[in-house]
Amino acid sequence: MRLTVDGQSFDIDADPDMPLLWALRDLIGKTGPKFGCGIAACGACTVHVDGQPVRSCSLPVGQVSGAVTTIEGIGTAGRLHPVQQAWLEEQVAQCGYCQAGQIMSAVALLDEVADPSDADIDNAMGGNLCRCGTYPRIRSAIKKAAALKTAGL
Ligand code: FES
Ligand code: FES
Repeated sequence: MRLTVDGQSFDIDADPDMPLLWALRDLIGKTGPKFGCGIAACGACTVHVDGQPVRSCSLPVGQVSGAVTTIEGIGTAGRLHPVQQAWLEEQVAQCGYCQAGQIMSAVALLDEVADPSDADIDNAMGGNLCRCGTYPRIRSAIKKAAALKTAGL
């Protein structure tokens, strides 16, 4: 089957029931999305399908009909996505394990809501768990990223 990931097309030989996360990590080599719980409960594996955040550990690859974007496709070292830039400036990450998923949920939120309230952030980010407890810095970074985006950075 053919999968578009981070703007590139891949031919993969996968059982349609294989979780998208397995296809991304094991067949395509996109190891940015992480395996946490495997049951759509932690958000570590979050990627986008046509811009919508999905839990790739629980989505069969055969059901993916749109373009997939991973943490590896949203910015480059020379030109970070505003959310990545804000994450760095606020020094959000601790162990880092949950952060690819957190960033992908935050990117999707800011694509929908340019200036999110605390409630918007709680709604959008509630499914992304962080055992290191970086939640206050995540909230600050989302607000900073919103400002960076509005300023066109
Ligand atoms: S690994 Fe997918 S939600 Fe936890
Ligand atoms: S930074 Fe460690 S789990 Fe979130």
